[in-house]
Amino acid sequence: MRGLEFGIHCPVWCIRFQLQDQGCNQGEVSKEAAQDAKPWGRKNEKCREGPPRLTCSLPDICLPFSTEILRQEPFTGGDDYQADFDPKAYLRHYKFGEDTFGEDYLNFSLKHYCKTFTSGVVTGDTLIDIGSGPAIHQLLSACESFKEIIASDYTYRNHQELEKWLKNEPGAFDWTPVVKYVCELEGNRYRDWKKQIVLKCDVHKSNPMDPVILPPADCLVSSLCLEGACKDLTTYRIALKNISSLLKPGGHLVLSGVLGCSFYMVGPKRFSSLVLGEEFLREALSDTGFIIQEFEVLIRDDNTDDSCDFSGKFFILARKEEAI
Ligand SMILES: C[S@@+](CC[C@H](N)C(=O)[O-])C[C@H]1O[C@@H](n2cnc3c(N)ncnc32)[C@H](O)[C@@H]1O
Repeated sequence: MRGLEFGIHCPVWCIRFQLQDQGCNQGEVSKEAAQDAKPWGRKNEKCREGPPRLTCSLPDICLPFSTEILRQEPFTGGDDYQADFDPKAYLRHYKFGEDTFGEDYLNFSLKHYCKTFTSGVVTGDTLIDIGSGPAIHQLLSACESFKEIIASDYTYRNHQELEKWLKNEPGAFDWTPVVKYVCELEGNRYRDWKKQIVLKCDVHKSNPMDPVILPPADCLVSSLCLEGACKDLTTYRIALKNISSLLKPGGHLVLSGVLGCSFYMVGPKRFSSLVLGEEFLREALSDTGFIIQEFEVLIRDDNTDDSCDFSGKFFILARKEEAI
């Protein structure tokens, strides 16, 4: 994309305008960026909201701006994940009883995973989890419904952390409280929790599992991954298409994450998150050939945990359209 980028740093947010030198591209800026947007500025007017006071000098087609997309952190990409994503620090979010963002997210998502995977509808031979990180909570309810479960992540350290848990090695994260909670939710179904294999994955590749070629799966799960991995909404759409290529026509996508989130902390390291809105997700999924079957949103009702600035959590169940 040929484009100009103006970055204005202010104490609170890093504000970025991305515009193309041939005039703004509706798809890039106006339509997607204005998702859930409040009008922010008009051509040659002082902007009415947001931290900086600026005069907009863009063609009318670009407006209205969204305060949401302007709230962008400096992007942390694959190299940052390899260097600075500490699995142990991340897993601290997933300790029950500590009132963390992770605990809040678990309470929301585990109920939805339970409902989805005990319904008898989302089932099959293979499930692939995209961007598992060092976590397995997103796979617990699915263990009974799929013969094979493939976890995947970009970083080697996350692979190691998962392997440690799978092989019962010393120092592995203790998932017992989470497992017990899922058992209670499901009425104590027995299942083999530790049947995952772990692969390298990059959602920016057209085959995210490259060089491995997998047969198309019956189900894809992805939790809190794409918003961390993608620097803008266009990249998000492409990544969605890439991961969708791993799924059979008629297969299910179970996508969960956070809305309105621009960063999250992993220990002392701040990672950027792409600010997502419901409208954008609906449109991106539909454009990628998914039929949304469930779209649950829970708006944040606390402001206690400052390790992440999300405004809500989402859980989506979608079905990939059958090939015509
Ligand atoms: C916030 S963590 C989510 C982990 C886990 N799915 C969960 O729900 O807690 C984001 C994960 O995305 C992974 N990731 C970042 N860039 C990626 C990429 N290009 N392809 C695949 N995974 C990526 C990171 O390594 C990290 O483990």
